[in-house]
Amino acid sequence: MSPLSALWAALRVYAAGAAVILEQLLRRCRGGFPEPVFAPQPDRVAIVTGGTDGIGYSTAKHLARLGMHVIIAGNNNSKAEEAVRELKEETLNVKVEFLYCDLASMASIWQFVQKFKMKKIPLHVLVNNAGVMMVPQRKTRDGFEEHFGLNYLGHFLLTNLLLDTLRESGSPGHNARVVTVSSATHYVAELNMDDLQSSACYSPHGAYAQSKLALVLFTYHLQGLLAAAGSHVTANVVDPGVVHTDLYRHLFWGTRLVKKLLGWLLFKAQSSSTCLGGCLFLTPPESTGIHLNSTHQEREHLSSRCPGIR
Ligand SMILES: NC(=O)c1ccc[n+]([C@@H]2O[C@H](COP(=O)([O-])OP(=O)(O)OC[C@H]3O[C@@H](n4cnc5c(N)ncnc54)[C@H](OP(=O)(O)O)[C@@H]3O)[C@@H](O)[C@H]2O)c1
Ligand SMILES: *[C@@H]1O[C@H](CO)[C@@H](O)[C@H](O)[C@H]1NC(C)=O
Ligand SMILES: *[C@@H]1O[C@H](CO)[C@@H](O)[C@H](O)[C@H]1NC(C)=O
Repeated sequence: MSPLSALWAALRVYAAGAAVILEQLLRRCRGGFPEPVFAPQPDRVAIVTGGTDGIGYSTAKHLARLGMHVIIAGNNNSKAEEAVRELKEETLNVKVEFLYCDLASMASIWQFVQKFKMKKIPLHVLVNNAGVMMVPQRKTRDGFEEHFGLNYLGHFLLTNLLLDTLRESGSPGHNARVVTVSSATHYVAELNMDDLQSSACYSPHGAYAQSKLALVLFTYHLQGLLAAAGSHVTANVVDPGVVHTDLYRHLFWGTRLVKKLLGWLLFKAQSSSTCLGGCLFLTPPESTGIHLNSTHQEREHLSSRCPGIR
């Protein structure tokens, strides 16, 4: 990627963000987002990556309120313990716990799965939520560019390692679910197949968007495989919208200032159940590919943008 294409990537990402903000404002003028109604989900188990903060924390809270056993996967012990304490207090659900998982380390993901499997409990919902956005050029433990390694490869590995448990836990009419959090920036992303690690020229915007596009493609492919095998597991990808969280901390100061001053108006509240909690249960259990309100056309569009990838 040349410096000019890095600038172009940034402009496209900002345009995608602005379009979502506009849509959110219009929706709000037309009466806002409907509050979804959830059925209680006792006896079901969920893992939420990045459940210590932001959308993941709110999602964990929604799930805990429904009576689910919620396991927060995170990489900061003290922060996670505090989150678990608060969640228990606010939801009066004692089945909320933390298991260490650094998604920027394959070894840590393996250990997390090992510890989870030792519990000998089922898994009904896996929320692939943790993520970083537009961080400076950095590498994961395993030497991958951070967006690609953490947002995408980390969740790719985690999902694959948990797939057998998900398969065993789903049943007819009661599918287990993989819910992956993408972003509208995937619409403007490009997969740079010659340089997935952005080593030639780094664009934080391009790298973030690329990792989110990779998650969308992964989900489509996984859903195809699950359906073909007749598994009672569905894979969906959701776009939470533009939400007031700490995800924006690495952005250019001008953007952070706008967020600080106008966030209350332009951004969704992180507690909004339509961010993600809603997406989990709004659709009937048999639905597949709820994701970004996708249509057949979107799939066509994606495959034409990423030739060679299905
Ligand atoms: N906010 C938005 O407007 C927006 C829009 C579209 C998509 N999204 C997506 O929504 C998801 C959640 O973002 P958010 O807005 O809620 O951001 P956030 O408040 O920054 O939360 C991100 C979460 O991921 C965790 N995390 C980061 N690195 C990790 C690692 N190496 N291992 C394990 N956990 C890690 C963080 O834990 P620590 O706090 O301990 O670091 C935190 O709990 C992301 O995938 C993001 O791309 C957000
Ligand atoms: C962990 O979270 C605490 C509390 O939010 C914070 O003060 C600390 O810097 C975090 N540690 C790391 C390594 O990010
Ligand atoms: C998806 O989008 C179409 C039009 O683009 C709209 O009619 C439909 O209600 C949307 N579905 C959801 C679940 O938002």
